[in-house]
Amino acid sequence: MTQPVHRIAVLASGHGSNLQALIDAIGQQRLPVELAGVFSDRPRAGALHRAEAAGVPAEAIRPADFATRAQFDEHLFTRIDRVQPDVIVCAGYMRLVSEREVSARLGRMINIHPSLLPAFKGLHTHQQALAAGVAEHGASVHFVSPELDGGPVISQARVPVLAGDDAAALARRVLEREHPLLVQTLRLFAQGRITLVANEVRLDGRALAAPLQMGHDNLLDSPLSQETA
Ligand code: GRF
Repeated sequence: MTQPVHRIAVLASGHGSNLQALIDAIGQQRLPVELAGVFSDRPRAGALHRAEAAGVPAEAIRPADFATRAQFDEHLFTRIDRVQPDVIVCAGYMRLVSEREVSARLGRMINIHPSLLPAFKGLHTHQQALAAGVAEHGASVHFVSPELDGGPVISQARVPVLAGDDAAALARRVLEREHPLLVQTLRLFAQGRITLVANEVRLDGRALAAPLQMGHDNLLDSPLSQETA
């Protein structure tokens, strides 16, 4: 058991449906954390509007206002640190974060990625999955590391790839599973049950041999005896 997570901050560049899933879960007492702030690199991101509508502090910081990526990231994370999050959640944040900022927050930053990592890192994951002809696809929540989409994977949700699927249809099916996956995974952080130790994901202090899997009931299955509901 480790320190329960009480405060989170969200980084998002786009539409913000994952953020909305967190806002709804917090509002319905299904996720006992405080959303301390939402940050974006795009002033017109839908995620910022969702935060404002929910009364959550929201801030856009434009990369174009900074000479270098490092300067932008330093300013961004200084602003994030001000709201004192225990965990920073990247939910549709489309920029690679500088190694300096990531290394300073190892074990405190997570990202949701629309593939079954380590397969299909980077962009256009649904096209990649279709091109590879896989029968199963999905989403992963992982710790952020300096390597893009390369940090230890905490949890995953799977979907079938169906005949006739195009990237848009697959993306919709995956996104539907991303929302409960992110909420369920953050519940474990709120309970103080997930840690990162020596680049290994631990649940209740014990190393996970494989990522937690979300069942069709949208609950995470635990390899350990104790249920994770
Ligand atoms: C999600 O598919 C997420 O996995 C990916 O970007 C998309 C963001 O969706 N990184 P939204 O902005 O949360 O709706």
